[in-house]
Amino acid sequence: MSHARLALATGNRGKAREIAEVLDGLELDILTRDDFDEWPDLEETGKTFEENAVAKALELSRWSGLPALADDSGLEVEALGGAPGVDSAIYAGTHGNDAANVARLLRELEGIPQRERGARFVCVLALASPAGDTVLVRETCEGAVSEAPRGDKGFGYDPVFIPAGMSRTMAELTLEEKNAVSHRGKALRRLRALLEAGEPAWLFSR
Ligand code: IMP
Repeated sequence: MSHARLALATGNRGKAREIAEVLDGLELDILTRDDFDEWPDLEETGKTFEENAVAKALELSRWSGLPALADDSGLEVEALGGAPGVDSAIYAGTHGNDAANVARLLRELEGIPQRERGARFVCVLALASPAGDTVLVRETCEGAVSEAPRGDKGFGYDPVFIPAGMSRTMAELTLEEKNAVSHRGKALRRLRALLEAGEPAWLFSR
């Protein structure tokens, strides 16, 4: 039986590698941005992680004629009513300026005691078919925002996020330790379990 093909809707090579690694060994040929001569504009204009992930997966799927997988993720802080949420990457203005995003977050939480700094990372994965079928997986990593950055591993808000039950920030964990508890690690493992069970059928039916 020939392998089903799956296009990854991320331009970020690091993320694409991480996803491809978790899905390794399945009956799937994974295509990334590097496998295409052109690439569509995958916009994130939704108000929820689900809307963004589904929109990106559907757009790439229609454009390529192949099933596609997209992800959207971010940090929700209770004391800030769920902000920065879907705006996590652009919280301080420029897309992906991690240091500025962290600085703004700490500023917004200034004076708020540790017990009131509860937060969660969210990761939503969306699979889509050219016919418009979709499957969603959502996972979270509960924790709290620290009062100062610690650690130099990871990316984004890792230096100020302490996973529940731990004393180290995510930027002080090894990649293996992070993946074991992280929103993305958990979501990808659930996706893998789904695919191993032969679901969704439309992905494997060609
Ligand atoms: P996107 O999923 O590429 O739209 O970006 C999500 C943004 O959320 C990133 O730019 C980070 O600021 C933040 N984020 C998502 N996942 C993580 C994580 O595992 N660690 C730290 N920050 C994250």
